[in-house]
Amino acid sequence: MTTWDLVGMQHHILLCNGSSCMKKGAEEVTLAVRDEIEKLGLDEQIHTTRTKCNGRCKDACVVTAYPTGNWYNVPDEAAARTVVQELMQEGPKAHRVYTMQDGAIIRTEETPAIKGIAKNK
Ligand code: FES
Repeated sequence: MTTWDLVGMQHHILLCNGSSCMKKGAEEVTLAVRDEIEKLGLDEQIHTTRTKCNGRCKDACVVTAYPTGNWYNVPDEAAARTVVQELMQEGPKAHRVYTMQDGAIIRTEETPAIKGIAKNK
């Protein structure tokens, strides 16, 4: 098992590889994110991890990034590359469903994604 030295890392991207996301192209999204990181020379700044279900299957393919707290609905390889490109920039982010504000996750104003089920129902 790999044990990376994470010194200097700025972003951690979690790539959902749960079954719903895999049915919607998560393997291609995963490979595109990792390829874009390599193309842009960002291997030292961005670490990626494949995960199981993140609980937002309707947003498949789900990609999250920390410490920004951005949760993305990534429909295809082109969008996956955009997420990597925009992660290193300020300003609006395409395909973003949630983001971090004042230490808590909020829905972005621009998202068309469903709200989902309250966890305290
Ligand atoms: S399988 Fe990806 S959020 Fe559920």
